[in-house]
Amino acid sequence: MTEKAILAFSGGLDTSVVVKYLQEKYEMDVVTITVDVGQGDDPKQITAKAKKLGVKKHYNIDAKKEFVTKYIFPSIKANALYQKKYCLATALARPLIAKKVLEIAKKEKVTALAHGCSGKGNDQVRFDITMRAGSNLPIIAPIRDLNLDRTTELKFAKKHGIKIDNVAKKFSIDQNLWGRAIEGGVLEDPYREPPEDAFIWVKTKNLPTKPSYVEIKFEKGIPIAVDGKSKGPVQLIEYLNKKAGAAGIGIVDHIEDRVVGIKSREVYETPAALCLIEAHYDLEKMVHTKHETKFKSTVDDEWSWLVYSGLWEDPLKRDLDAFIDHTQKRVSGTVKLKMYKGSLRVVGRKSRHSLYRHDIATYGKGSTFDQKLARGFVELWGMQSTEANK
Ligand code: ARG
Repeated sequence: MTEKAILAFSGGLDTSVVVKYLQEKYEMDVVTITVDVGQGDDPKQITAKAKKLGVKKHYNIDAKKEFVTKYIFPSIKANALYQKKYCLATALARPLIAKKVLEIAKKEKVTALAHGCSGKGNDQVRFDITMRAGSNLPIIAPIRDLNLDRTTELKFAKKHGIKIDNVAKKFSIDQNLWGRAIEGGVLEDPYREPPEDAFIWVKTKNLPTKPSYVEIKFEKGIPIAVDGKSKGPVQLIEYLNKKAGAAGIGIVDHIEDRVVGIKSREVYETPAALCLIEAHYDLEKMVHTKHETKFKSTVDDEWSWLVYSGLWEDPLKRDLDAFIDHTQKRVSGTVKLKMYKGSLRVVGRKSRHSLYRHDIATYGKGSTFDQKLARGFVELWGMQSTEANK
């Protein structure tokens, strides 16, 4: 019986090369699956690409809504920014793709699971671990197993008549609704500013000369309306990506620690993510006590780290989810953001659960805060420090 592998297929360089390797070197039949998490590719074109490579069967699965509600929304609740910068766009999509691969793997009764990840990145960690959480089938990763590099892949692709578009020749791209990651090529010099053509979502030239505003309404930590209009989950993210991108918001350029220990220079376009996380965190600070805010930020960091590191299925991640969900009960309200020539700033917030009290905070007349009490409070608060410094 011929062995049969299922491969998560994007139609890009890596996964196209992998199809051919599986067929020729591993002598396997290949079933491919493309999970639509908002990468914006045409399913018909991907199917045609897969068929041309000689796969036995190709599946297109639309998982956009599930991606937003089950993966992106929890990350907003966690204010998830790995190393304070990266919104986890790729990291969040991998466990969902792996889950869909396993569903089709069962249906197709495959004998192996395959992916197109290299041995240098994080995606192998995410795929392997989440696949292992639901299957004992062998995992084949030809690029990692055969130690292939990009130049070899490009040569191999040419030999097999695999067409690679021009952007892919310059950079390695991964994109979905939550963000666009751009790596490789000239970006590998960490001191070199990214060239203009690296960016597609975010406007970098001729930005509007007037500021624009966006209002985001949250209900229990989840964004439900923008600019006064209720929007479905997918629509809401798409709207913000467009609006903030047009105002020059969303570029992130930083040095990132990969799970395998490599430091890499990562460039992202993530307009909606930056707006939503900025707004959500601001709203949290209005409705949470200072104790909740302080403690939750440690939990948020841990959550981001686990998800980045491929541990979506770890019990600790689920425990943290339960805690985070519980903290969102009062995170309802509206936040107003101002965008101007690439800068983003919260300029207003309101909530029915606000702990902000004007009568206490005001420096004006009519304050109900009894300043006389502060003297004793400060003395006790600093007592040990004062003593230690004597
Ligand atoms: N560094 C990011 C991560 O590990 C993005 C990876 C994007 N992948 C790519 N092939 N460009 O999640």
